[in-house]
Amino acid sequence: LDDPTADPFEIAAEAADDIARLTGVDRHDIALTLGSGWGRAAEIIGQTTATIPATEVTGFSSPALEGHVGSLRSILTPKGRRVLAIGARTHYYEGHGVRRVVHSVRTAAAAGAKVMVLTNGAGGIKTTWKPGQPVLISDHINLTGDSPLEGATFIDLTDLYSLRLRDLARTIDPTLDEGVYCQFRGPQYETPAEVRMAKTIGGHIVGMSTALEAIAARQAGMEILGFTLVTNMAAGIQTTPLSHQEVIDAGREAEPVIASLLARVIGAL
Ligand code: 6GU
Repeated sequence: LDDPTADPFEIAAEAADDIARLTGVDRHDIALTLGSGWGRAAEIIGQTTATIPATEVTGFSSPALEGHVGSLRSILTPKGRRVLAIGARTHYYEGHGVRRVVHSVRTAAAAGAKVMVLTNGAGGIKTTWKPGQPVLISDHINLTGDSPLEGATFIDLTDLYSLRLRDLARTIDPTLDEGVYCQFRGPQYETPAEVRMAKTIGGHIVGMSTALEAIAARQAGMEILGFTLVTNMAAGIQTTPLSHQEVIDAGREAEPVIASLLARVIGAL
């Protein structure tokens, strides 16, 4: 993936073959990226039939990517759907390039997934929101200045976060609010001035993932559903300093509730 002459879609096809071989499942119907706070969902959406370390799947690790990269699971839902749960997100701020960031999405598409569910933990701007609250992503603003598309690939991003799937999620929980997700590069959290900018340009959520992945998922023809766990209010909205530990703790507390929400939504897909 670091070789500019290599075809990222061929590498994704190889990764999909690895997954089929290692899980014994030829095609998956739905893919799910598990962000901060959402991990427990994988345990209750169905029966896990295989868990594989991401290091064994082409493109998910390289000498340049040190440390823990997580795992992939194949899950069979009660309705007989095959879900590929991806607990191995590469963030843009890691600096390995956007091809690595969207590799899991392209792999999911190559594995047959028609629906891409993207989840994350992020900061809230809407003052009616409370930490620990899940919200739907209605649209995004990509502030990374980057794109997973290479060359003159002019794709439409209308209804990027599927209205059909958002409405379906609201049949499970009618109280679900929604908002526009702003992807910043990170890894530092935003300044209060940057948060005011995000609010002024129409943003409601500030985070460091998802938008680039959603673009790649649209390019691959998948239908997209996005969920944010509001782990904290954004800088300047909350008056106390942001801490990574606070984000982790909020995720941990909300986990049972949002896991059950996500499991019910996936069950309804
Ligand atoms: Cl406030 N900003 C960003 N970019 N990511 C976050 C966050 C804030 N809180 C959790 N993740």
